[in-house]
Amino acid sequence: MNRRITVVVALAFTSLLIGFYQGSQRAVAQDAPLLTSVSHAMLAVSDNTAKYVGSKKCKKCHIKIYKSWAETSMGKAFETLKPDAEAEIKLKFGLDPKKDYTTDAKCLECHTVGYGKPGGYATPNAADKKAVRKAKALEGVGCESCHGPGGSYIKLHKKILMTGRTYTEEEMLASGLIKPDESSCMKCHDGRGPTKPEKPFSFESMKDEGTHEHHPLKQRADS
Ligand code: HEC
Ligand code: HEC
Ligand code: HEC
Ligand code: HEC
Repeated sequence: MNRRITVVVALAFTSLLIGFYQGSQRAVAQDAPLLTSVSHAMLAVSDNTAKYVGSKKCKKCHIKIYKSWAETSMGKAFETLKPDAEAEIKLKFGLDPKKDYTTDAKCLECHTVGYGKPGGYATPNAADKKAVRKAKALEGVGCESCHGPGGSYIKLHKKILMTGRTYTEEEMLASGLIKPDESSCMKCHDGRGPTKPEKPFSFESMKDEGTHEHHPLKQRADS
């Protein structure tokens, strides 16, 4: 098989697997030997730098979490910057409700994913369709705002999915995945924004309800 065909076949397997994963974890485990060789073919063509990939890439495998996150105010934080959105709050804090803040560098750091970092949010040129699509996937406070850039750990997640094997927390952290703690939130909830929250920030009460639905992990050996 030439390289291009190998890649196409590997990609086809991945989508198939994601289907299995969402239905039953057992189906994945039974097919493991064949799939391990496929995963090596994929690793050979993937990128090694820790870039932001966008929340849509996580949706494929973490569909319930994605959907519940999309409904949170952080999932919609880019909408807030549009003219007429949250007009009352903007007035209260001396912001202009008619102004379009979606291109304002002073707002994007906390209302998008990875602003100014490699592969992170950048205001696209409207004529560049690819850049527009990329920026769209990085709007709001996304998965990688709290869990770190996916470019490093997404390959490990694919491997865990494909083999059905267990893994340890240590292995996850070594791959670059961040287990969010209070300091992850404080990058933005540190009072530098132009608005003031109704309640003071509390990690303990907000980490479960404010972020997304939480589900027990099935393949983690030490959880
Ligand atoms: C990249 C910046 C960023 C990070 C990191 C971040 N947040 Fe937020 N958060 C925001 C922004 C911006 C909003 C307001 C969204 C809106 O309404 O437009 C928000 C809103 C919220 C809200 C809604 C209630 C409120 O105060 O308005 C909760 C709850 C929350 N964040 C919890 C957390 C927790 C818990 C963490 C860490 C695990 C965290 N956030 C990390 C930027 C961030
Ligand atoms: C340092 C991070 C940070 C920056 C920079 C920032 N914000 Fe925010 N923003 C937040 C956080 C965190 C919240 C959640 C509520 C809070 O803590 O006030 C928020 C909430 C808001 C809200 C209220 C949304 C709601 O539904 O309650 C508006 C409006 C808003 N920001 C607009 C802006 C605008 C416009 C700019 C740029 C001029 C900006 N923000 C810059 C972090 C930031
Ligand atoms: C505002 C911060 C924040 C955002 C955004 C966020 N998470 Fe989380 N995530 C957390 C926190 C906090 C935990 C719990 C960590 C703990 O229990 O110690 C968590 C836990 C998880 C877990 C472990 C299992 C579970 O259900 O608790 C998975 C999987 C996960 N997140 C995936 C995602 C995906 C996928 C997205 C995007 C659709 C996302 N997260 C967006 C903060 C965030
Ligand atoms: C190809 C499928 C796939 C993709 C894509 C994927 N993951 Fe995962 N992820 C998994 C699997 C499988 C697990 C292990 C789940 C379990 O044990 O139940 C996992 C576990 C996790 C955990 C929990 C780790 C721990 O041990 O605490 C987090 C957090 C997480 N993923 C976040 C993300 C984020 C953020 C993205 C997007 C940048 C992403 N994942 C993309 C399949 C995937």
